[in-house]
Amino acid sequence: MMASPATPDTPAAPRAAGVIHPGWLRVMHWINALAVVIMVMSGWRIYNAAPFFNFVFPKDITLGGWLGGALQWHFAGMWLLFANGLLYLALNVGTGRLFRKFFPVSPRGVAADLGAALHGKLSHNDLRHYNQVQKLAYLFVIVDIVVLVLSGLVLWKSVQFDLLRELLGGYEFARRIHFFAMALLVAFVAVHLVMVALVPRSLIAMIRGK
Ligand code: HEM
Repeated sequence: MMASPATPDTPAAPRAAGVIHPGWLRVMHWINALAVVIMVMSGWRIYNAAPFFNFVFPKDITLGGWLGGALQWHFAGMWLLFANGLLYLALNVGTGRLFRKFFPVSPRGVAADLGAALHGKLSHNDLRHYNQVQKLAYLFVIVDIVVLVLSGLVLWKSVQFDLLRELLGGYEFARRIHFFAMALLVAFVAVHLVMVALVPRSLIAMIRGK
């Protein structure tokens, strides 16, 4: 008799069922994290060359050394972030994972899970399911990165993307949007890292898959 592919009833299934994050997701998550670090640190150096607030970022936490070098890093990181992000979205939407993992999410559910978390009553037993606060945070950061890419396109090729430039309120306004979206991304990463530190098992799962 021919061997049939694994189904939930065959012995191979429990091993697959133990997987919390599929391999492609883990690879893309870490590529994304690397790209975000490159983009943010080189972006700070680019901002320092023409700041619009009365502060600059300490040189030691920027990347690229000088404006030209930082631009090279930013453009290299840009392709990584863009290609990886596009593939992540395509796979997530195409496999239906996006809707399974991140929806439904509701204001009431987020408030309830936030309340439970603040009282130390939020369960982390099953890492396959994100709580409502996580769902909202992850959806937020996905949209935030899309905003960063779109406003970045305007700053990069403002003449070619003239419609997008006008939709974002002109070149100077797009620059502010890009900056604030960066600040929100950095805030997300800070909170994300604290959460990971509180549930170290989740880090193992994002590396090994289970
Ligand atoms: C730097 C930018 C980062 C961004 C934008 C980011 C974004 C995300 C997103 C969107 C998810 C959900 C992925 C999905 O299920 O489709 C996620 C999950 C996760 N991330 Fe990150 N991440 C970043 C960096 C990091 C770093 C540096 C760490 C660890 C040191 C980390 C650890 C994790 C873990 C452990 C999970 C799974 C959480 C869980 O299962 O409860 N991330 N991240």
